[in-house]
Amino acid sequence: MAERLKVHVDPDKCQGHARCKALAPELFELDEYGNAREAGDGTVPPGLEDKAWLAKSNCPEIAIDVIEE
Ligand code: F3S
Repeated sequence: MAERLKVHVDPDKCQGHARCKALAPELFELDEYGNAREAGDGTVPPGLEDKAWLAKSNCPEIAIDVIEE
C-alpha cells in the first residue's frame, strides 16, 4: 500500500538551485526568478513517490519537505 505524499517548498529557504525541477519536473514549477514551488497543491501522483524523495534529498538548501499523509 503506497502512502500518499505531498511536496512543499519553503520559499524562505529556496535559492533557485532548480535540482528539484531537473529531477522531478512533474512535481515542481519555477517562477520567473528560478525559485521553485510545488506544482498544484503538491500532491504526488502515484508512481512519482521516489522522485519526491529524490528531490528532497538533492535540494542543497533543504527547502523541500515531503509530507506523508
Ligand atoms: Fe529551490 Fe532547492 Fe529546488 S533551492 S529550486 S527547492 S533544488
